[in-house]
Amino acid sequence: MTDQGSARSSEGSGDYDLVVVANRLPVDFSVGADGEVDWQRSPGGLVSALEPVMQENDGAWVGWSGAPELAHEPFEADGMMLVPVTLSASEIRKYYEGFSNDTLWPLYHDVIAPPAYHRQWWEAYRRVNQRFAEAAAAQASRGGVVWVHDYQLQLVPKMLRDLRPDLRIGFFDHIPFPPVELFQQLPWRRSILEGLLGADLVGFQRGGDASNFVRAVRRLTDHPTRGSVVSMDDGDAQGRRVRAAAFPISIDTQRFDDLARNPDVQARAREVRADLGDPDVVMLGVDRLDYTKGIRHRIKAYGEILQDGRIDAEHTTLVQVASPSRENVGAYQELREHVEGLVGRLNGEFGEIGHSAIHYLHHSYPPEEMAALYLAADVMLVTSLRDGMNLVAKEYIAARSDLGGVLVLSEFTGAADELAPGPLLVNPHDIDGMKDTIVAAAHMDPKEKRRRMRRLRRKVMGDDVAKWSKSFLGVLTAMPSRDTHV
Ligand code: G6P
Repeated sequence: MTDQGSARSSEGSGDYDLVVVANRLPVDFSVGADGEVDWQRSPGGLVSALEPVMQENDGAWVGWSGAPELAHEPFEADGMMLVPVTLSASEIRKYYEGFSNDTLWPLYHDVIAPPAYHRQWWEAYRRVNQRFAEAAAAQASRGGVVWVHDYQLQLVPKMLRDLRPDLRIGFFDHIPFPPVELFQQLPWRRSILEGLLGADLVGFQRGGDASNFVRAVRRLTDHPTRGSVVSMDDGDAQGRRVRAAAFPISIDTQRFDDLARNPDVQARAREVRADLGDPDVVMLGVDRLDYTKGIRHRIKAYGEILQDGRIDAEHTTLVQVASPSRENVGAYQELREHVEGLVGRLNGEFGEIGHSAIHYLHHSYPPEEMAALYLAADVMLVTSLRDGMNLVAKEYIAARSDLGGVLVLSEFTGAADELAPGPLLVNPHDIDGMKDTIVAAAHMDPKEKRRRMRRLRRKVMGDDVAKWSKSFLGVLTAMPSRDTHV
């Protein structure tokens, strides 16, 4: 085990004014035989959102390396102090694959897959959350700010407050917060709510998530609520107040805009289309291979459209990027089998030598290649059954300064709440409705495309992720502080 729990100062507080706590560190790293750490920045929006504020504020980032038993002292990378938390293979199985991704993930995504409730997983979740809380407590300066992220760490705010009542604590939930009628299935529902209520500010993607949370607090705890504010200490006028609010996340919009204007990326987009056999219509799906993303529904609709002859199979291609994800979890293994079976069937039926109906790519790609794919795609299909936000939809918009391309977007994404009426909205469960919309997208006239994309860009380009983190931290630090006499 690492000893990062040992405090950096004699008073039980550390040096960092801003500490981010997330399940994953923003780098992949390994430790060489000489004990030297070798790291590479991992892709992901959160780090680009937080890097500038971390650098400005003397920040530290507490997280897991992604590998079992990997321990290292805190080290510096890109001007941030990174504090590794070590997980054993059994903790990865129970806390990460188990409770986080086979209990909470399906439960919070409207039980699309059945959540599994196991007491041993819960115990591991508690133990690992405590370790993250201790690591953060050791790094944060007196009166500092700690920002905890996502469903893997919902107990950390309370654990941290117990250790360090002087801190300002924020929590942001990147995924949906379910209606109480589903949430209450969770045997440990009350501990999760109390865990989150350790924060001063609990942020969500949508207003609906924040109100689901407040309703759950009202229904399942005794804490009085008033609008979006929860009173702790039984309504005592001096008591602590917790605020729940929506802070819809965005992307590094300028980066995608710049990438897509780069002549090399544009040349690559032309090359992609040529390699696909210069079809009339290129459709694109980009997802982690996750059952929440509606990939099967999308492929089913697409196959039926080809079958019905509403789109010419010879001159249409769907490119489906499905990046590998959580491959040890059963529901993900089943999904992969199912999707790959569908793809094979479709290509068998509609493919020709030199032409595939669907190009299925089980990889991840760097942002340059993603930008080229976005530019190459006439229609972008985002058909999630449930999605906290969906950043792919925003990346596509940011990449389309040429005002080409049509976004087909599921109603069940956080992005739909923000972006309507620019995208063509679909209910992915309604296969016939989705087929009509995909056909309409493929045939949309260029003037209408431009009108819609202009509207979408007006919304997305002004709302980048740096603004998101500033706005969350701005609200958090402006909240009345209390209890600093520790
Ligand atoms: C979602 C979650 C993140 C998570 C990411 C990738 O976006 O909100 O917390 O990091 O998926 O999943 P993974 O399990 O690979 O970290």
